[in-house]
Amino acid sequence: MRSTETQEVQRMMEELDVSGLESLAGELARSVKHGDRFFLSGSLGAGKSTFARAFIRALGVTGAIPSPTFIMDSVYSISEMGLEVHHMDLYRLEGSKEELLMLGFEEILDSDAVVLVEWPERIDDFRKRYGCTVLISNGGSPHSRRVQVEWNMAGY
Ligand SMILES: Nc1ncnc2c1ncn2[C@@H]1O[C@H](COP(=O)(O)OP(=O)(O)OP(=O)(O)O)[C@@H](O)[C@H]1O
Ligand SMILES: [Mg+2]
Repeated sequence: MRSTETQEVQRMMEELDVSGLESLAGELARSVKHGDRFFLSGSLGAGKSTFARAFIRALGVTGAIPSPTFIMDSVYSISEMGLEVHHMDLYRLEGSKEELLMLGFEEILDSDAVVLVEWPERIDDFRKRYGCTVLISNGGSPHSRRVQVEWNMAGY
């Protein structure tokens, strides 16, 4: 459940290869709570989908986890946990508040589903919202990424 009591912001930064990023996603998935949101930020090919797939797999989803770029939202039901997980890719949105409302994304973000969002920059105030930002940028080699994890527990 969302914690509104704590003002805490937790930060972590490390340099990870693909399997390191997948392990991190798995770790976060195993402690996921209803209503958690993960804002996956990074340029084209940074590793946002790689993170999202590993996260969803760690919750027990087998089978294909397609990139939601064209449909913008894929939904998975984790029945053992009574959990719905949305994997959104907002790349194709223009990002107006009206558009997010009209497409039902605000409603999903307000629900108790777990939401993974690629291209969260389309939501202009996403850093102020409750949730975890995973910021992925270039690392020291083509196979490594600097990964910053920042929880905003006090957001709305
Ligand atoms: N350390 C790393 N972490 C994640 N991906 C890596 C890493 N090193 C190399 N890669 C490669 O980078 C690519 C990342 O692709 P991915 O689809 O996850 O990126 P994306 O951020 O979702 O891109 P898009 O903006 O197109 O949605 C993959 O081919 C992956 O194998
Ligand atoms: Mg992607």
